[in-house]
Amino acid sequence: MCGIIGYIGKKDAIPLVLNGLKNLEYRGYDSAGIGAIVNGELIVKKDVGKIDEVFSKINISSIGSNITIGHTRWATHGKVTKENAHPHTDCKNEIAIVHNGIIENYQELKKELISKGHVLKSETDSEIIAHLIEEEMKQRNFEDAFKKAIEKLKGSYAIVAINKNEKEMMGARKESPLVVGVSEDGYFIASDVPSFLDETKRVIYLYDGDVVVINNEIKIFNKGVEVKREIDSIEWDAEQAKKGVFKHFMLKEISEQAEVVKKAIMQDEKIIKEIVNAIKNAKGVYFVGCGTAYHACLEGSYIFSKVAKTHVNVCYAHEFPNYVHFLTPESLVIAISQSGETADTLAAIRAAKEKGAKVMSIVNVAGSTLVRESDKVLLQHAGPEICVLSTKSYTSQLTILVMLAYALVDKLDEAKSKLKELIRYIYYLTSKNTQEYIKKLAEKLKDARDIYLIGRDLQYPTALEAALKIKEVSYIHAEGFAGGELKHGNIALIEKGTPCIIFTSKENEEGIIANASELKARGAYVIGVGPRNSEVFDFFIKVRGAEEANSIVQIIPIQILAYQLAILRGLDPDRPRNLAKSVTVK
Ligand code: AGP
Ligand code: GLU
Repeated sequence: MCGIIGYIGKKDAIPLVLNGLKNLEYRGYDSAGIGAIVNGELIVKKDVGKIDEVFSKINISSIGSNITIGHTRWATHGKVTKENAHPHTDCKNEIAIVHNGIIENYQELKKELISKGHVLKSETDSEIIAHLIEEEMKQRNFEDAFKKAIEKLKGSYAIVAINKNEKEMMGARKESPLVVGVSEDGYFIASDVPSFLDETKRVIYLYDGDVVVINNEIKIFNKGVEVKREIDSIEWDAEQAKKGVFKHFMLKEISEQAEVVKKAIMQDEKIIKEIVNAIKNAKGVYFVGCGTAYHACLEGSYIFSKVAKTHVNVCYAHEFPNYVHFLTPESLVIAISQSGETADTLAAIRAAKEKGAKVMSIVNVAGSTLVRESDKVLLQHAGPEICVLSTKSYTSQLTILVMLAYALVDKLDEAKSKLKELIRYIYYLTSKNTQEYIKKLAEKLKDARDIYLIGRDLQYPTALEAALKIKEVSYIHAEGFAGGELKHGNIALIEKGTPCIIFTSKENEEGIIANASELKARGAYVIGVGPRNSEVFDFFIKVRGAEEANSIVQIIPIQILAYQLAILRGLDPDRPRNLAKSVTVK
């Protein structure tokens, strides 16, 4: 969902900004651009397409700049065109801005600016920001004009702005993510940490409403008052945020899952206990999330029911408005989100807080908005998840949910030892020979038009998550459903050779094998995933039984399958079309 990076300092800014944009590619984009101040002039280069394409024609070594901003756009307002790419400038081509988010009141502001004689060149909501600053500079300096302009904006934004007449760079954030990188010889303002990790590990996580002013020093304001923000040092090194020995982030992150489960187990027991108490004392507990995080919520509700006989409501974050009227100050909302920046999830917890409900969250990105807006947080410590697909963050979330469920019945230590036993097995599941074995299945399925994934009980959310993995990275239509639903309609879809992946478990083998037989009788190609083979399976992937932790181990072979299908179909598993790593717009 778009990437922003700006640099001001002693080094040549353009290569740093271009490298930063490359490191943000995983966020998904359709256009790219930079704005550089060169010998007192503002130069803007932007176009539709990938970063390498857009900048291939620029001989950047010949352009020296100490202040440059860059942007990769994921269009929301205005078509994907060169004019609509960022940076956007004012009428005099002195001010340049880049923006992530949606300015909800841009039409009225645009009308006002046009009535004052401004000429706007794009269809976007973002461009008005440059002209608002220009208008305000008729009465005040760049810093104050920037602050004044920001005050007029409604909606979500992460903005970086520069002015060819000033040795300054401004930044501001509201709902969209923005961080500051502090290096020996300058400062970065960017959407996310990987953009400047090659240069510095020192980061300031900006808060909602923060305005940052950088000239030869840095100042941060919030509601007009200067505030102090900590400089954190990032545990992730540049290499970790890069692919290492793997061809793609997706396989790297799938392979990290044994480590990730280990780290997820290492939680602050005090926080676990506080969250458990909050669950016990709450009148109504709600799990909310989107996409894979929602599947973790659903699986969590099954695990809470089985292990702790505890009822939780589960809903998509974007559907949460249908539940808000039930909320009271005694309600508890638990949000699950890898990025901690998903707009729908943030909107859900904000609605909950308006009702006085408590908000706790399970999040991977330490400096994210969700972390800051939650009353309690369990961090996943899964390290950067760069691939658009959530893989290691999913098994990490499930690990934490299993621990919470056991902690609810005072068996946290039992959960930890069960989960620790799985770690070695997960190494095996993500090993090369498992990958080789699954590749045989990928070869069989690579030209499939549809793939159906079926599970019962704890395996039902796994079927949904498995379908999401396959469809979003291989573009094969994949649909997950509950085994019991087959006879209510889905079985009409089955034709000769239709691939059906069945998740089994000791606890409900009879029912799901009966489903598999019904599918086989109609000519389906039946793939079994679980502890025991069956003569009804045409292909079998053995996954050791893990009871409530089945969802952690059973998804791994399908993550690998999804990855291999993408490769066999000539696709880039890290950057699937139309998708973004963090959906920071509603
Ligand atoms: C899943 O592979 C996708 N990346 C997507 O569904 C994702 O899970 C969803 O957008 C939620 O993201 P979050 O966990 O960062 O909130
Ligand atoms: N809403 C702005 C546009 O459509 C910014 C989109 C983004 O976040 O990339 O240009």
